[in-house]
Amino acid sequence: MENRTITKKHPYWENLEKDMVMSDPLGRAWIEVEPSAIEANASLLKNLVGEKCVLMAVVKADGYGHGAETVARAALRGGAEVLGVATLQEGIDLRQSGLNCSILVLGNLTNRFELSACLKWDLMPTLSSKQEAFICQQEAESCGKKFSVHLKIDTGMTRLGCDLSAAPGLIHIIDNCENVLLKGVYSHLALADAESPYVTFQQSKKFEKFVQNFSSKRQDCFFHLANSAGTLRDSALHYDMVRVGLALYGYSPMKFLQDDLGLRPAFSVKARVTLLRKVPKGIGVSYGHSFVTSRSSCLAVVAIGYADGVNRALSGKIPVLINGSFSPQVGAITMDQLLVDVTDSPDVKVGSVVTLLGSDGNNCISPQQWSDASGTIPWEVLCGFKHRLPRVVIE
Ligand SMILES: Cc1ncc(COP(=O)(O)O)c(C=O)c1O
Repeated sequence: MENRTITKKHPYWENLEKDMVMSDPLGRAWIEVEPSAIEANASLLKNLVGEKCVLMAVVKADGYGHGAETVARAALRGGAEVLGVATLQEGIDLRQSGLNCSILVLGNLTNRFELSACLKWDLMPTLSSKQEAFICQQEAESCGKKFSVHLKIDTGMTRLGCDLSAAPGLIHIIDNCENVLLKGVYSHLALADAESPYVTFQQSKKFEKFVQNFSSKRQDCFFHLANSAGTLRDSALHYDMVRVGLALYGYSPMKFLQDDLGLRPAFSVKARVTLLRKVPKGIGVSYGHSFVTSRSSCLAVVAIGYADGVNRALSGKIPVLINGSFSPQVGAITMDQLLVDVTDSPDVKVGSVVTLLGSDGNNCISPQQWSDASGTIPWEVLCGFKHRLPRVVIE
């Protein structure tokens, strides 16, 4: 980091010359995203899965909160070839930003309005039923196009996908739809991040049997099963393509596999100190007075709160980094602000930058620490940051 020139990219700086209508994105609270880390992670993952396996970058939920277009472009530079989104609009947004690679919509599109938009924007839908296949056929036929689709089969996630037993019949129906091209068949792992491989093994056995029956007749169809955890834990789960989300963003999906992967987080959450308060011992702090000072204290008011995505359940349970050192967050996290006990950090000033997630100097705070503290998962922590926080791209 220290030897590189860091450029911060955001519309604010592009507009600065023209007018001053925007507020400084670094004035209150913001997210910094490093595309070079995403690119490096994609390249590492591509090397891991090898030449013959396609890397799909899962960029749904605005690229897990990082900014979908930024992540997509970095992942494609690093060796990803396909993008995965959850919704039609996420796919359209990527097309409108000029991306023309294959994009698979992982969520279900159920009616002809959605499926015809999908076709118009050259996005591949995920099919789970014959009704969806028939709509695809009608929409494609009516405009004389071919509609590339993926079929999802359920091997044990019990969410989207057709029953495994119905899959051969559904493939037959799709094959009879002249304008529909089956470009992929996939399933999703429910417990790939669990220490016990049992459920993953059961699911992969079912998928493998299915692939054995079909793959020799289908050179042009991609079979895929693995998310990040599946990709990292067993190459037997790779098949023709892997769909990688969390690992692309630099985090291990498995607690038991944290350190030696070489993945680099690309995401930091930062905010400014806006006020310093000197208070005596015995003072209740913030809503509910859940924290009472046990000594004469210095408290920093920090301009970020749960309306930005810092979950209130983290109140009093997380440290933050200021000038490279840890200080404890104290009292209830409020909508727009939180408090930090900086009694032991005399260098903190109004305007000091507080790192809530990410690294500062040699120290680092990870989404896993937040999810452990609030009873959730790192995926939800990353997706939980609101658009009130500007995303600033660090180049
Ligand atoms: C169908 C599908 N594939 C792949 C992924 C990526 O998962 P992960 O972030 O664990 O890699 C997701 C994410 O939820 C998904 O829904």
